[in-house]
Amino acid sequence: MDAIYTRGWVVVDDFLTAHEVEHLSQCLPHEWQAAGIGRAALHHANRQIRRDQIHWLDPTLGSPVADYLSRLEALRLVVNQSLMLGLFDYEAHFARYDSGDFYARHRDAFAGQSNRRLTSVCYLNNDWQPAAGGVLRMYDDSEQFLIDIEPQGGRLVLFLSEGFPHEVLPANQVRYSIAGWFRVNGHQHGRLDPPR
Ligand code: OGA
Ligand code: MN
Repeated sequence: MDAIYTRGWVVVDDFLTAHEVEHLSQCLPHEWQAAGIGRAALHHANRQIRRDQIHWLDPTLGSPVADYLSRLEALRLVVNQSLMLGLFDYEAHFARYDSGDFYARHRDAFAGQSNRRLTSVCYLNNDWQPAAGGVLRMYDDSEQFLIDIEPQGGRLVLFLSEGFPHEVLPANQVRYSIAGWFRVNGHQHGRLDPPR
């Protein structure tokens, strides 16, 4: 919580054990949808920005998924108690990046346009090797390089959704994660200023 408050982001290694990652992996769906596509006409343009496929989480996908959602709910309450962000709910999806897939630099939220306040990404790739690529590359609010984070299994990354542009570099093997967002109820609530 300290790191989020002072710096706006944090990496928590071993948020999940290798066993928990394994159990969640067994809940990965067989059906995926191309991410972020509103209309077929947008498909081509969208593919220049992101190529991952997603599946929204819900507890019926299995008890490991229900357990994950419970843990993130507990985290939501801790964040609200210590940072007063007034987070209201949480939405999350599995994401699958096939070899060569990427997500170009973007922000998860823009002030006044989104309910998303805090981003979470949890990785499901046990024994990920650096040579496999697929790092999460983070930038600060003025677009300066901040850090490369490998998508190591069990690792949780949290950052303020408005303050940190980021991208997913291409991986050369399949890369699984759960991306999620804590949201407020109404655009005006719960904002921490990102450090400058
Ligand atoms: C996202 C995203 C980062 C990652 O889904 O918006 O930026 O490391 N994911 O998977
Ligand atoms: Mn993102």
